[in-house]
Amino acid sequence: MIHSRIIGSGSYLPRNVVTNAALAQRMDTSDDWIRSRTGIRQRHIAEANETSSSLAFEASKAAIASAGIAAQDIDLIIVATSTPDYVFPSTACLLQDKLGIKGSPAFDLQAVCSGFVYALTTADLFIRSGQHRCALVVGAEVFSRILDWNDRGTCVLFGDGAGAVILKADDQPGIMASALHADGSHAGILSVPGNICGGKVTGDPFLRMDGPAVFKFAVRVLDEVAREILAKCKLQVDDVDWLIPHQANLRILESTAKRLGLPHEKLIVTVDQHGNTSAASVPLALDLALRDGRIKAGDKVMLQGVGGGFTWGAVLVQI
Ligand code: ACO
Repeated sequence: MIHSRIIGSGSYLPRNVVTNAALAQRMDTSDDWIRSRTGIRQRHIAEANETSSSLAFEASKAAIASAGIAAQDIDLIIVATSTPDYVFPSTACLLQDKLGIKGSPAFDLQAVCSGFVYALTTADLFIRSGQHRCALVVGAEVFSRILDWNDRGTCVLFGDGAGAVILKADDQPGIMASALHADGSHAGILSVPGNICGGKVTGDPFLRMDGPAVFKFAVRVLDEVAREILAKCKLQVDDVDWLIPHQANLRILESTAKRLGLPHEKLIVTVDQHGNTSAASVPLALDLALRDGRIKAGDKVMLQGVGGGFTWGAVLVQI
């Protein structure tokens, strides 16, 4: 039977670090308000010449190096992003060209902050079907481009970055189980409701959010989907070595761990350093914890996404 395993990871953050104190000089906010409500201390913001594909390229090079493969070995590229370089071609095609490879399918996947979990599940299914053997799966975002910097209720929450993994066919699982969900009736609580029409932006091109509604929704579905995955695998919460939920807000992460009965020490947190990087947040956190040695070979890691749509999902992976 064919399974898929993560054999390498990489990530990249723009050099420009913006602290809460720097934001407080530009708008009516404070380090104390942002930290106490969200846990965020700083975020990385892309320079004008940086795009999702350029951040994805840096993260992908690191993932390819850590997997010990050549770029030519990749036969599938999926990029999860809601902030593509262009309307088209896809960021995945631009990334493929930057990597100097041709021929393999490359496409973007749009599930906002659940994007990486959706993309990893999709790549796993492609590999398990036998059609592909080595996938590059990326989450890359420049959310700073879709923020209303006059809306203090949203702009302080997000940052830019990219994370990537190499997923390879193997006879042992790797990806143990996954579950994806969506409920479009909640589109209104988190959206960028604008578009391009006739050469002009129509509607509102900025991210709008009902924060308290998102908070409540996220905590409920992250708990439900974690239990769904554990039931599928016939495992208990204690069997999970690490929990990496989408890094939206420290209070959401802590509430999720608490509802599950998972000790705080098993929670990987990067939201304090990165802010919410949407589809990039889970692979960024995974790469960080693999590189600093917290996550070790054999560990079972629960990855969770939740975001606009609303979309949500989880993947249990053995490293
Ligand atoms: N600085 C100072 N004050 C602020 C700021 C700010 N940056 N933003 C809002 N406020 C004010 C509001 O104007 C309001 O003032 P008022 O009472 O005088 O009207 C007050 O703070 C309280 O606002 P609330 O929105 O009620 O604050 P709340 O405690 O709910 O926290 C927050 C807001 C942090 C957005 C919270 O609702 C939250 O974390 N929600 C989850 C949203 C999230 O994580 N979104 C990420 C994207 S979704 C995803 O990734 C799944």
